[in-house]
Amino acid sequence: MIRNFIDLADAGPDGLRAMLADADSRKRMRAGWPKGKPDVDRPLDGHVLAMIFEKNSTRTRVSFDMAMRQLGGTTIVMDAGSMQLGRGESIADTARVLSRYVDAIMIRTDDHAKVEALAEFSTVPVINGLTDQSHPCQIMADMLTVMERRGNLEGSRWAWLGDGNNVLHSIIEAGSLLGFDVTAACPEGYDPDPAVVATAKERAGNHPFVLTRDAELAVTGADVVLTDTWVSMGQAHAEAKMAAMAPYQVTETLMAQANGDGLFLHCLPAHRGEEVVDAVIDGPRSAIWDEAENRLHAQKAVLLWCFGKI
Ligand code: CP
Ligand code: NVA
Repeated sequence: MIRNFIDLADAGPDGLRAMLADADSRKRMRAGWPKGKPDVDRPLDGHVLAMIFEKNSTRTRVSFDMAMRQLGGTTIVMDAGSMQLGRGESIADTARVLSRYVDAIMIRTDDHAKVEALAEFSTVPVINGLTDQSHPCQIMADMLTVMERRGNLEGSRWAWLGDGNNVLHSIIEAGSLLGFDVTAACPEGYDPDPAVVATAKERAGNHPFVLTRDAELAVTGADVVLTDTWVSMGQAHAEAKMAAMAPYQVTETLMAQANGDGLFLHCLPAHRGEEVVDAVIDGPRSAIWDEAENRLHAQKAVLLWCFGKI
């Protein structure tokens, strides 16, 4: 059976834990090495990953490219606008053709159904590099960062402030799969998708997702405070939304309510002075550069899982 990584649930709790452990050990094993030097075992020697971008990217593009190099493989990076996909060739036909050339496909797109369609018609693994609905690769890196800093994930308390977006959806899913608590404070009208919340609630057991309008309540006692841009890719800038989000800006005052060793995370790119102030994102509790680096290490594990090597 082909292993696609479209959402975190595809791997299940055991798969996710195994990936996080592998990411951690590979990261340690190559500490201080030149970044382009392959890992000793070159587990993906000869393998090629095609990447399709229908939206901008810095981290996802470079970290997947470097991940494949470190695993002994190579990549082909394509902007959808320069592909026949951008002129109307179907996702299904694109999947059928690319499957004949490459060993796996990563796609960043808008509609989640496009990734599902790509997986349906592909005969090689498909990885979700962000859709309007979810961003599972990001949360693998976030979980790795929390594990590194805290030593464990289970039992931690995560607080999200701001827009109920794709990144939050994957955090909600992660909390329900791996047993950590997620509370989100979102302004009315910008809640996460009720279907994502309902699915998480069904499986969450002792760790149900909590939604509140109260930013202070959400961050009080939190081990991890997270936010993201108020205007995601593909969304129009709306003054009404910016005004609604203003009370959810991550400030030093709000961070002071978190646990003493509470971390600040942001998937980046950040809009400093909007969702977070400089004093927090550049402050002592911010782990954003480790988080960004961990995209590379976590995605190596995602790739290895897709190829059945984890
Ligand atoms: N966090 C993240 O996915 O960054 P990019 O948009 O730069 O890939
Ligand atoms: N929510 C953001 C995440 C960017 C990595 C977006 O979709 O634009």
